[in-house]
Amino acid sequence: MNTHRIAAIPGDGIGVPVTEAALAVAAASGARLEVTRFDWSCETYLATGAMMPADGIDTLRGFDAIFLGAVGWPAKVPDSVSLHGLLLPIRKAFAQYANVRPHRLLPGVEGPLRRTDFDILCVRENTEGEYSGAGGRVHVGTRDEVAVETAIFTRHGVERILRFGFEQARRRRGKLASVTKSNAQKHTMVFWDEMTDRVAADYPDIEVTRYHIDAMCARMVMAPESLDVVVASNLFGDILTDLGAAIQGGLGFAASANVNPERSAPSMFEPVHGSAPDIVGKGAANPLATILSCALLLRYALQRDDLANRVEDAVQKALDEGLRTPDIAAGEPSCTTDELGAAVLKHLSS
Ligand code: NAI
Ligand code: MG
Repeated sequence: MNTHRIAAIPGDGIGVPVTEAALAVAAASGARLEVTRFDWSCETYLATGAMMPADGIDTLRGFDAIFLGAVGWPAKVPDSVSLHGLLLPIRKAFAQYANVRPHRLLPGVEGPLRRTDFDILCVRENTEGEYSGAGGRVHVGTRDEVAVETAIFTRHGVERILRFGFEQARRRRGKLASVTKSNAQKHTMVFWDEMTDRVAADYPDIEVTRYHIDAMCARMVMAPESLDVVVASNLFGDILTDLGAAIQGGLGFAASANVNPERSAPSMFEPVHGSAPDIVGKGAANPLATILSCALLLRYALQRDDLANRVEDAVQKALDEGLRTPDIAAGEPSCTTDELGAAVLKHLSS
């Protein structure tokens, strides 16, 4: 069996304890992993003036996958600095263009919707579109001030994210929803629709439906069970996946993968949530989003669906035992981060 080299960046705040919980699960999952920890964080920035060393990206390039807890400590370092100094450079440098976020309500967890039987895989374009950073401001501070932000959609970028979505649909229930706003945005989004039709021709077995972003927001609330794979641009995917996290019981369950499908550089796995300064040090962080991100690492980086399924089963058994961190306890007695992590480990080992 191959040994896989994993770079772990626990980061700030609750990123640290939830990463430890997830790495313990990863070690017990049956995969052979060699984990190297990097203490890159806002503390690093305060001590050195940079979130990571100048050769940080080169260092990470040699690993098979990257595991990240959370970065950010707004009281000490502006978010724009911490985000642009660590997370965003990694996503860009390693062409992690597919941001994958599963939204499923685990049995026994209370969500806000009547429907509980949904299983959605959101695929968000992660490198261009509305977040390309192209634009500028002129006449700043005057009455003539102008701000322009240009969305950039390349044929290469749109085709590859759609193709990735179709491949996911093929491995799942064979349905793909393509999300645009092509009635209002007649250049980029009409282009996206055309690309969807072109790529769909290569996947006659997949049922494709187009939705506008506003209608998709409503559908995720009113009929989430009707969705399988949902593919969207950077901005639309960003918004939809927060809605997805809400309907799956909150940020404590929302896992994510930044995938480089060609495997030309490492992919990165992380919970959707941030460093949660408001609960840090209280043992109150839900480690499941990070543990489920570890399952995504096994599934997408190691291509071990069997081991990923084992981790997800162990998470379910810990929930079946009634263990709940405060964010999901709903007035019932709650457990700590470590207790929930230990319960997942126990079920994984039994
Ligand atoms: P956040 O996700 O850290 O917290 C939002 C709310 O959800 C808080 O009330 C928090 O206590 C709760 N929460 C989050 N994760 C939880 C968990 N696992 N268990 C229980 N409760 C949980 O978002 P916020 O407060 O906007 O940002 C805090 C810092 O994190 C900022 O510096 C922000 O930039 C950074 N951030 C980093 C991300 C990343 O590293 N990918 C993503 C989002 C935010
Ligand atoms: Mg977001």
